Parts: sequence; C-alpha cells; structure tokens
Amino acid sequence: MNLKTIAFNHSQLTGELTVPGDKSISHRAVMLGSIAEGTTRITGFLDGEDCLRTIDIFRQLGVSIEREGTNVTIHSPGMKNWTMPEGELYAGNSGTTARLMLGILAGSNVTSVLTGDEYLSKRPMNRVSLPLRLMGASIEGQPDSNLLPLTISGSSLQAIDYEMPVASAQVKSAILLAGLNAEGKTSVSEQTVSRDHTERMLEQFGVSIEQKGKTVSVEGGAELKGTDVHVPGDISSAAFFMVAAAIKEGNWITFNNVGLNPTRTGILDVLEKMGAAIEIVDQKGEIGEPYGTVKVAYNRLQGTEVSGELIPRLIDELPVIALLATQAKGTTIIKDAAELRVKETDRIAAVTAELKKLGANIEETEDGMIIHGPTPLSGGTLFSYGDHRIGMMAAIASIVAKDPITIQDVACINISYPTFFEHLEKLTSPSNVNG
Ligand code: S3P
Repeated sequence: MNLKTIAFNHSQLTGELTVPGDKSISHRAVMLGSIAEGTTRITGFLDGEDCLRTIDIFRQLGVSIEREGTNVTIHSPGMKNWTMPEGELYAGNSGTTARLMLGILAGSNVTSVLTGDEYLSKRPMNRVSLPLRLMGASIEGQPDSNLLPLTISGSSLQAIDYEMPVASAQVKSAILLAGLNAEGKTSVSEQTVSRDHTERMLEQFGVSIEQKGKTVSVEGGAELKGTDVHVPGDISSAAFFMVAAAIKEGNWITFNNVGLNPTRTGILDVLEKMGAAIEIVDQKGEIGEPYGTVKVAYNRLQGTEVSGELIPRLIDELPVIALLATQAKGTTIIKDAAELRVKETDRIAAVTAELKKLGANIEETEDGMIIHGPTPLSGGTLFSYGDHRIGMMAAIASIVAKDPITIQDVACINISYPTFFEHLEKLTSPSNVNG
C-alpha cells in the first residue's frame, strides 16, 4: 500500500495558490462537448483521475478528444453519431462519471456496460436508474439496477416531472441530460438546491433552461453547439488549503482563479462564521461560472452549527470542516449530512475514526458529527479508505499535529488534486507563488 509521511508542525503557510480546475465542471465540459456536434475547447481542465475516466469513455464512443495538460479539444460527430463501444465503459472511482453517464447513455443510440472500481461498485445507482426507468430507460443490473456493472441499452425516452428525494446534483444532472433526448419537457424539483453547473453549462451550449423556484426544466430535442469553456479552480480543492490557512496563527493564503458559484461557496460562509479572516478580493465571470480571488487568514476560531440548506453547498468539504472544528473553541455540530455515508467511502465513519486517532474529541451521529474543541492533535498513521478527500484531510492535519502523520493509500489524492503535495510544500517554503 502506498504511504507518505509528512510533518508541517513547524511550518508557516503563506503565499498565493492557484488550485487545479473544478472537477464537477471539467466532467460536464467533456460530456456536453461530446454530446454537441462540432468543436469544443476547454481550458483549465482538471487532469485528475476521475475526469480522465470521463474522457476515455467518450473516446470509446467515437468522439475525438485531444488533451495537452489542462487544454482539451473535442471534435464530436454529435451524440446521434456515436459508435458502439468495443469494451466496457470504466468510470473508475468517479460517481459523477457513472451517474451522469447513465442519464446520457439512456437516451443515446448505443448499448454499453458501465463499470467502476471496488469503491464505486458499492455506491448506489438506483437514485438515478429508477427515475431514468420512469422515463423509459433500459438499465439492467443487480440488485434491481442499483450497483455497477450496469447495462444501458439506449432507447427513446419520455419526459417526467421528478421530485428529488435527496439533494444531489448528480441525480438532477442525470435526469436533465436524459431529458435532452426525451419527448416533452423534463422537470426536476429539489427540496434543497444543489450545485447548478449542468444548468449553467447547458445554457453555454445553446440549450434554454427554465428555472422556477427550486424546479428546473429542459425541453427534449435541443441541439447543443460546441463552444469554449473556461474551468475555474475547484473550491473543493481550495477548501483544504483554506482550512490550512485558518488553523494556525500567522498563516494566510490568497487563492487565484477559484470558482465562486454560490451553490458551492458554503465553505466560505462556515469559515467566516467560525471567525476566520476572509476577503473576496475580486469576482468575475458573469456568463457561465463566477470565479475570483479570495484571501483566507488565521483568526481565533469558534465552534458553529453546519446543517440544513448549507449542507449541499459544502458537502465535499465536510471532512476538512471536521478537522477545522477540532481547532475551534466550543462545540461544532454537523447534521443533515447523511449523504456523507454514500460518498467515496462512509465519510462520517472515516473522519470520526481517523481524527480520533489524533486525539480529537469527535463523535459520530447518524447524519453528521459533533466535535468539541480546541484539542491539540498528535501524529499517527491515518488511512484514506481510498477516498481522496480523507487523504487530503489527513495531510492538512499535519499542519497542527505535533508529530508526523503517515497517510496510508495516499495515491487516491490524484483523483481530484494531482499537485496537492507539490502545492503544500511550495506554500511552506520561502518563495511561494504557486501556479
Ligand atoms: C457532484 C455532486 C455531489 C458531490 C460530488 C460531485 C457533481 O454529489 O459530492 O463530488 O459533480 O455533480 P451528489 O450529487 O451525490 O451530492
């Protein structure tokens, strides 16, 4: 098993940081660019494992995709002219790839088998395959089309009005993408608003989206036109370094070109509520995705409650928020976050177990965690559970932990942040402007 031992207790983190491209937006840019006929040019693409799986899948469907680092050019014959894939379509560890592809493939003209790695193969797919079946999709697999591998035979679809039982952008997106090829108007209603990257990007590709309150609709039969997409830095990746900046006196980091979509900025709200010094230096990009420059610096932290409508706006940041809470005075309650149990691993169980190993005062609840702070953290050997965000949380703990931290199965960090350790080291060295 791959291991890494780090110790940053005596280091100060200061400087500028440009984090890699947003994972959710990178996936969607490749997907919509492959559905559309013509040429799409993506800049700022995330060359992490998950997004590379999405590229590979479309290449197997006959789409020409050239990638040079973070620049991707797609020449697509359009979805109607995709070719039958020869082998299985492998989504790796990527839930976004698997769930959104189910929606796309359901209304295509190809038959395919979608597979994933050992972790993804345990994650529920029913949340998308059941509504897609209501639209007439043919999705077969055991048990009751819940687990990969799944066989999808593209077929003609009917629009539906769907009330989402869970807040999930993956479910919403899968239905909307299937709706592009359905007869009639497909509507999805959410109880709590989840990230809206699919809606924003469909508009960039020339599709009109209707948004009424928490209901979003798309008409079947829309033609997508290839376009240029700029992917801003991933705020979920930046979040690890935002917490790093906030937990130790003297630390500060300025984040350039970081995504500021309001459906994703819950981490900034929580940092501010807990007392960290936050400054949004500038904000751009009115069309498509907003992004800008944010400075985060240390200040005395206090506990808070993280719950309700805030949860989908920071769902991926909760592991590192739990670490943040161990350094805050008082009690932090994280609740309404049962979705964490079906992420890359059960993140409630994993975060609680790993932070306890360092001496944190943290307890697990059914739908969250309760953390009492501040507690000094010791070192130790932490397991990532093959989950990139647990691995990065463990690494950030080393900034305050008094002894070294060893991370087991550290390679999974490449899923969303291949340059994570390079950036961590640069921020702790004297000349520290990262690119
Ligand atoms: C994502 C949505 C979220 C998030 C995941 C990416 C997306 O998942 O946790 O990392 O790109 O749509 P859910 O839709 O399951 O909440």
